Amino acid sequence: MKVIVTGGGGYIGSHTILNILKETTWEVYSIDSHINSTPETFDRIEKISGKRITNYNVDVSDFKALKSCISQIPNVNGIIHFAALKAVGESVEQPLLYYRNNIQGLLNILECCKDLKINNLIFSSSCSIYGNVANLPVDESTPLAKTESPYAATKAMGEAILSDVQKSQKMSITALRYFNPVGAHESGLIGENPINKPNNLFPVITQTAVGKMDKMSVFGVDYNTRDGSCVRDYIHVSDIAKAHILALEKSVERKNFNNVQFYNLGSGNGVSVLEALNTFEKISGLSLNYELDERRVGDVEAIYSNSAKAKKELGWIPKHDLEEMMSSSWKWQQQLEKEKNA
Ligand code: UD1
Repeated sequence: MKVIVTGGGGYIGSHTILNILKETTWEVYSIDSHINSTPETFDRIEKISGKRITNYNVDVSDFKALKSCISQIPNVNGIIHFAALKAVGESVEQPLLYYRNNIQGLLNILECCKDLKINNLIFSSSCSIYGNVANLPVDESTPLAKTESPYAATKAMGEAILSDVQKSQKMSITALRYFNPVGAHESGLIGENPINKPNNLFPVITQTAVGKMDKMSVFGVDYNTRDGSCVRDYIHVSDIAKAHILALEKSVERKNFNNVQFYNLGSGNGVSVLEALNTFEKISGLSLNYELDERRVGDVEAIYSNSAKAKKELGWIPKHDLEEMMSSSWKWQQQLEKEKNA
């Protein structure tokens, strides 16, 4: 198997490459423009796995460059397409940036698949496409409500584009709907490392704990939830990474090209923001400096997953609980501090 991972230098992309290197004999290449990652990630992958990955520094929203790059890698069996922007709040402020990267990028990948006869595609979708739903947990048959942010809209549109393309192009397409991927690789040598100020809860927590941020905000404590803060379904990034291998194996086996395959990837546990903060304080023994703040525009109130379909059809069984997710993120943040002070 020969596989291209777009966004291989990013958070989920890098963990997926490590998982591929550990568990398969696949030949893997990365395409990453480092819009939101650093080339140094590939040094870290090499340190952990002993293998050097070739990364092509190409922006997926540049069709000519992308096609010329993929053409250099003959007989590709599948593409795992991560390369996209992913911050809900930022997408509200910069919608055009999100539509260009996430939609144009996907169109270009599909065009390349068509032109270069690449038949398997795994797409990074998100639970944000469900919007604010009345009944929890959500499964793949839950109707999609109005999207609450441009980020979520790009993922919902992405899935709609895939469904239309699937009908006209003989491809096996799988959309994996991530809930909230968090945590870091067991080695503690790689993890989420936002270039700019972090937006996601876990890096905000760990950066506050090491003093990189003075204090953090809990966005909204007047939601209709058990403690007033938003509820999310956190899932370990290594469990998410594993699902990509299972999904691509299944994709290659598929004979029926009629439909895009959709899978929820979540733990099934709803955890509030305040509960996440408490868990961090428990595993670290530290006290976090936080304040109760206004709601963040674009947030949904509560969401968590029924992932029975991924378990049944892909054999996907998440292995890490919330404390492991938190302690691996913390171990990674401490590693970054150690490197900074070395
Ligand atoms: C959203 C998507 C998720 C996607 C992720 C990518 C939803 C429901 N989920 O996650 O599928 O993978 O984007 O980024 O849309 N928070 C604070 N203080 C902070 C930061 C966050 O209170 O400083 C709160 C947020 O308001 C939210 C929760 O923590 O309630 C999680 O936020 P975040 O980590 O940014 O992820 P989502 O936006 O939920």
